[in-house]
Amino acid sequence: MSTIKEILATMDYGPAPEDSTIPRDWLARHEAGFGHFIDGAFTPPADCFDVINPATGARLARASQGSEADVAHAVHAARRALPKWAALTGHDRARHLYALARHLQQHARFLAVLETLNNGKPIRESRDSDLPLVIRHFYHHAGWAAVLQDEFPGLQPQGVCGQVIPWNFPLLMLAWKVAPALAAGNTVVLKPAEYTPLTALAFAEIAREAGLPPGVLNIVTGDGRTGEALVAAQGVDKLAFTGSTDVGRAIRRASAGSGKALTLELGGKSPFIVCADADLDAAVEGVVESVWFNQGEVCCAGARILVAEAVEQRFATLLRRRIATLRTGDPLDKCTDIGAIVHPRQLERIRRIVDQGVAEGALLHQGTAPDGCFYPPTLATNVAPASVLATEEIFGPVVTLTPFRTPADAVALANATRYGLAASIWTENVNLALDLANRVRAGVVWINSANVLDAAAAFGGCRESGFGREGGRAGMTAYLAAPLPRPKRPETAATAPVALPAGGPAGAALDRTAKLYIGGRQVRPDSGYSYQIDGPRRPVGLAALGNRKDIRNAVEAAHKAAGWSAQSAHNRAQVLFYIAENLSARAPEFEERLQGLGLSRSAARAEVETSLRRIFWYAGQCDKFDGALQQARAGHMTLAINEPLGVLGIACPTAHPLLGFVSLVMPAIALGNRVVALPAQGQPLAATDFYQILDTSDLPGGVVNIVTGDRDQLVQTLADHDDVDAVWYFGTDDGVRMVEERSCGNLKQTWCENGAARDWAGPEGQGRAFLQRATQVKTVWIPYGE
Ligand code: NAI
Repeated sequence: MSTIKEILATMDYGPAPEDSTIPRDWLARHEAGFGHFIDGAFTPPADCFDVINPATGARLARASQGSEADVAHAVHAARRALPKWAALTGHDRARHLYALARHLQQHARFLAVLETLNNGKPIRESRDSDLPLVIRHFYHHAGWAAVLQDEFPGLQPQGVCGQVIPWNFPLLMLAWKVAPALAAGNTVVLKPAEYTPLTALAFAEIAREAGLPPGVLNIVTGDGRTGEALVAAQGVDKLAFTGSTDVGRAIRRASAGSGKALTLELGGKSPFIVCADADLDAAVEGVVESVWFNQGEVCCAGARILVAEAVEQRFATLLRRRIATLRTGDPLDKCTDIGAIVHPRQLERIRRIVDQGVAEGALLHQGTAPDGCFYPPTLATNVAPASVLATEEIFGPVVTLTPFRTPADAVALANATRYGLAASIWTENVNLALDLANRVRAGVVWINSANVLDAAAAFGGCRESGFGREGGRAGMTAYLAAPLPRPKRPETAATAPVALPAGGPAGAALDRTAKLYIGGRQVRPDSGYSYQIDGPRRPVGLAALGNRKDIRNAVEAAHKAAGWSAQSAHNRAQVLFYIAENLSARAPEFEERLQGLGLSRSAARAEVETSLRRIFWYAGQCDKFDGALQQARAGHMTLAINEPLGVLGIACPTAHPLLGFVSLVMPAIALGNRVVALPAQGQPLAATDFYQILDTSDLPGGVVNIVTGDRDQLVQTLADHDDVDAVWYFGTDDGVRMVEERSCGNLKQTWCENGAARDWAGPEGQGRAFLQRATQVKTVWIPYGE
């Protein structure tokens, strides 16, 4: 026993263990093992695996490995429950979500301790961070359910959602997935991570206790094979995944062409930028919050510190000092800062990456950690930008420190990653902070803070960190859809265009060869060939036969036109109005062209008229499709900024040769994207005539590039291209599958449908949904108020 004098001399904390009796009693009651939670009841345990406490290595429980049949059973239950659940009023669903929130609140301490036992995270964090956020999510989404009809008119639930979540925030990730899905009227089959199924199973019991109807929520446990079965299952309408980029890529590939909507929240290697004028003491605490929180098992961890050269030494000294005070050990001890690594396999992975980094020249400064499944807080210096430590997601309490000279260098280093999840920026200069926030490619930016999360703020990444948002309004849209009936006559593959020598034997009827439009200039195709465009009675012209090289040139031109994204919304609107004005002046010419392509006179007139109206509408929206000030935490102003995606490949539908093109290209450029468009293959001439309109409307060269030819072949190059940020494809079912499959290289966003699914002339051909698709939300947290 220490004397008071000794305690004051060392200022050491004594242990303050959390009592785990109640969760252990609960586990003891389930000694026979857990089954799956399907249709409101637990199945008998079968094919069980051990669930361990990583802090001790002891077995906590046994859970069932879900088979394909179990998954099918759960999906069936979710399908059966769907009509009734979706038909409830928003108010009634709100009451269910509210009841869930209330019951979670009542069981908060039990769940926090259970989470800590299973995941190894410090009780302080599960109690003070995870559980409050879990509960907040259900309250927030009870609210969305209540206001759904008013806030999202005309939208309906996606249907049955298959959700696969990781082990780092087991219950919080469940809340992020389940709450919005249920609020929107979907039913759910969720697969927790194999290391950490226990709080999900406890949640199932709580849902039953709270009176959630059977089948609305189903939980199937198991490893990646169970996840694969859920991804492949018939009867699932939407997939939502959080986890590693590799698995996200596998899910994108496996679900390609299945018609399942998909959102992916994947890995990161987020920068933590410390400028020369930063409050360094605050920034050190920011690092603690950012990468030593949750053992560094955080997808948005600021794992790469970029520090201004002028303060590098001072900052490193402060960090080393802080490391010495971090306590790694028993997660149930309320004084512990860093708990156990989730599983020995993850510990192995951390060690392997760090060892490799050291072999590559990194120098380590480490704190202490007990024996067992623990890893000490680690600061790595002398890390080359290409080193494994700087490039790979470690998912452990390891941070690198790299100096930079100027803010421009900081941005270059920050963006030198395949990821784009988050960034944390530290400076006392508000201009610099906001400038960096604008230039860093990330879905979430924290200014003078780190890892602040809230149910009302959109969270999610870009590039290989995935797509889609969770939280707030943007998160809700991921679980809602506009009803689109399956087309009676779906678009099918067009015959491949036959190559003719460019400008070659054009019959008398063929007036001229339409060239490609790249970088604001009409250019000859690389192939040197063109192909014949047929009208209903006779050939009506020739179009250039574009190839891969032309696509690459077009992508390059689109990249060079980056200035368009930075233009004011007013300027973009002016250009769109001007495009409409010029189209209006040449309306008769376009009508004639469309008649030549086979449209009746009235249809041609309607096509031009609707195109005009549509361009006006998007011109009007340029400065009205606002972001938001999200109602998140006190002490912050939390902006949702609608950023353009970047360079967009657009493959236009076959129907509506002019309107199909206008309906897709205009919303994309209205919000600052640059486009490589592939017009309808058999009828591209209305789109190629459009060059002249673009040329005379002050649109900077490279903002719209048009490549004609074999649409489905050309779009492959766009889907494969690493410098294309998104592809919209409205063609055949085979094309949809191909584009979705090939997009997984750089995990670009896709929007793919059969081209005949929409009535392009009607309301389905225009609207906010197009603008939403053309943008992604960047959430910026700015200190503001108390
Ligand atoms: P993981 O991505 O394999 O696991 C996440 C979830 O996906 C688990 O529920 C797992 O059972 C499931 N899963 C695995 N393979 C699947 C498949 N083919 N189809 C469907 N579901 C599948 O992550 P893992 O292996 O546990 O961790 C490895 C690394 O991944 C970590 O070291 C970390 O770098 C990263 N990671 C990133 C996360 C993030 O939130 N960004 C979360 C978890 C891991």
